[in-house]
Amino acid sequence: MLTSSEHLSARSGPGRFDQYFGPGRVHRDLYVDEGLFREEMHRLFGSTWVYVAHESEIPNAGDYVARRIGLRPVLVTRCEDGGINVIFNRCSHRGATLARDPAGNAKVFTCPYHAWSFGPDGACRGRPLREGFGPATEDFPYDLAKPAHVESYRGFIFAAIRSEQTLTEYLAGAATMLDQWIDRNPGCELVVRNGSMPFEIRTNWKCVYDNAADGYHVPFSHESVMRLLANRYGDVDMSYYEGNFDNSPLLVKDLGNGHTLLDQRPLMHAESAWTRQHVLPGRETIWAQLNEQLGEERALALLDGSTGSGMNLNIFPNLMIIGNQIQLLEPVTVNKTVVRWYSTSLTNVPPEINAVRMRMQEDFPSFGEVDDAANFEACQLGLEEVPEAEWVYIGRHMDTGRGETDADGHWKEPVSTDLHARAYWQAWRTVMEGTADTEAGR
Ligand code: FES
Ligand SMILES: [Fe+2]
Repeated sequence: MLTSSEHLSARSGPGRFDQYFGPGRVHRDLYVDEGLFREEMHRLFGSTWVYVAHESEIPNAGDYVARRIGLRPVLVTRCEDGGINVIFNRCSHRGATLARDPAGNAKVFTCPYHAWSFGPDGACRGRPLREGFGPATEDFPYDLAKPAHVESYRGFIFAAIRSEQTLTEYLAGAATMLDQWIDRNPGCELVVRNGSMPFEIRTNWKCVYDNAADGYHVPFSHESVMRLLANRYGDVDMSYYEGNFDNSPLLVKDLGNGHTLLDQRPLMHAESAWTRQHVLPGRETIWAQLNEQLGEERALALLDGSTGSGMNLNIFPNLMIIGNQIQLLEPVTVNKTVVRWYSTSLTNVPPEINAVRMRMQEDFPSFGEVDDAANFEACQLGLEEVPEAEWVYIGRHMDTGRGETDADGHWKEPVSTDLHARAYWQAWRTVMEGTADTEAGR
């Protein structure tokens, strides 16, 4: 194995990471090596499209949110003309972070250090004591640096520091799945406006991503919440993870470029997801009110569209859509990661619908994510402290003959597969080795 410094100095190219991968396995160093983590932050997050914010978070001119691309601080801003910018939150003078709040409204960003100021498009607007700037530095890059590419896909803003693909090309099969997720509620706009529920977890960011389409862990990791619901309410959501759930119509799909989907819709939405959703505070009252206001058919359609989506859609490397939430993954150090859950609301619906969404969106992060976070931390501990055990297993269903191409052209496997991990690791290798071909594979 290479040491950390050798990682940084090693030249990229096909085969460079061969020694870290074997059939259905990846090496522990990929989760614990600090040099490799630094390189991921620069190279991987510097060479892919990265989700930064939802357009509804910055509705008005001057609105901004502070986010990151890997570890690079960026500001996502709204200009007077309605345009959206992504600029590095790094003063062009000495490098200080310009905006130090997580969100706000600013027509101009004034650096706290020497008060250089910048517009929301990054243009330098002012430098105090102007006569001190002579002709020798006229060509200095006074404007803020920016990622080369910024694009939105149906309200989701992505930035790429380097990319030869358009955003749509990069999203590949994930674009259609995002469409399906957004189009669950025709005539409504999706709004992110309630901040986020952050989890700071002592784990490498990829331990979180490994779990993103992991149907295998559900009945075991989340046994307590599932048993509690089953005992109290009977046959409710997630109860279909029982027996050999690989024989159910649940599945995992490879959508290309490291993106994957765990699809629970075939069972969760087989009939009405609302009627089999477990009990929530105020459920009966809301159901009665909506029935009276809208009639049963419309009420049920709206409630089914606000019950968990049944989709876990993972867009490599940092965006996960789960239920009705947007999950943002923020690597911090090689063994610290913040996972933020953003709830979503809808426009053009009775307030009861958004109340239902909020109650449901508090639910899994509170009672399920804690199980996952405990496991991510336990994985990290084992990976860090037992170098004698070198490998991590990601081989489920890679050779069981259970995979096939679905009607939409995407490869799918039974829900307990590790396909999601194999798919993103292939994308990881492709980017980290600097090759152009990003076709995800099996
Ligand atoms: S570092 Fe920003 S003005 Fe000096
Ligand atoms: Fe989980």
